[in-house]
This record gives sequence, structure tokens and C-alpha cells, in this order.
Amino acid sequence: MTANSLEDLFVEGLQEMYYTEQQLVDALQELEEGSTEEEIKNAFSEHREETQGHVDRLEEVFEAIGHDAEAHEDPIVDAMIHQHEEFVNGDPDEKMLERYNLMSGQKSEHYEIASYGNLIPLAQQLGHDDVADTLEETLREEQEALDEVSTLSEEFDYGDIESPQ
Ligand SMILES: [Fe+2]
Ligand SMILES: [Fe+2]
Repeated sequence: MTANSLEDLFVEGLQEMYYTEQQLVDALQELEEGSTEEEIKNAFSEHREETQGHVDRLEEVFEAIGHDAEAHEDPIVDAMIHQHEEFVNGDPDEKMLERYNLMSGQKSEHYEIASYGNLIPLAQQLGHDDVADTLEETLREEQEALDEVSTLSEEFDYGDIESPQ
């Protein structure tokens, strides 16, 4: 990312999130398919639908600020997805994969929260108050998704996974 003005910094951030959200739509499908517990599958599936809504909202935001909706590759989300793929390629047992899916989901929500948590004050600083409100709606959904995966991680049923006594 390079930016010489606050407006650039804001637009670049939006472009990275536009890329990230699109990658996460597919990634959340992987997480859903790689999980077995109904509650966990539903959480990923619901957030996948919301994530598609985040993509649409970013398109509204680009329109509102008079920029073409353009995605800029974000190496952070790519790295998170790559790390998850490597874990899957190691052919983990079902429960281990499900537990790892929650960890991956949780990390991506934290990343999105950090990103939107910075884009919102930038939007306000630039006088884009309506845009800030739109991004705020997405941030709220990310926070709810984080709360849900965090609870699912804490209450995870480890079943037969060995743990040292
Ligand atoms: Fe999102
Ligand atoms: Fe999210």
C-alpha cells in the first residue's frame, strides 16, 4: 500500500477490504464444508451470507465517494487462507479440523475488525459521515461473528481428541 493523502489511505484500505471480503466469501464456504457440528456449520454459513453483504456495501461506499469499485490484493488474507489450506492438506482428523476452522475464522474477524475500526474514523475525518455509518453496520456484524466463533471455541466439544492429563 502506498498513500500520499488521507483520501488515498482511505481508498487503498477500502480496496484491500474489497479484496479481502471477496476472498472470505469463498473461505467461509470452505470452513462450513470442513466442519461437522450443526451449530458451527450454521455460524460459518450465516456469516458467509453477511460477508457477501459486506462486498455489496463496499460497492455502495465506492459509489458514494465517486471511485470505481476496485479490489487490491491483500497479502494478509491470502496468507491466512494459505495457512488454512496447508493445515487441510495435512489431512487432519475431523475434530482437529473443526477446531482449527474456528481458530481461522476468529483470526479473520479480528483482522476485519482492525481494518474497519480504522476505516471508520478515516471516513469521518474526510467528512464521509454516511459512508462511516455504512461501514459501522459491517463492523457490528464482524463483532457479532467474532463473539459467536469465540463462544463456539470456548465451548468446543473435544470428544475423543487426546489431551494430556
Ligand atoms: Fe466482512
Ligand atoms: Fe467477517
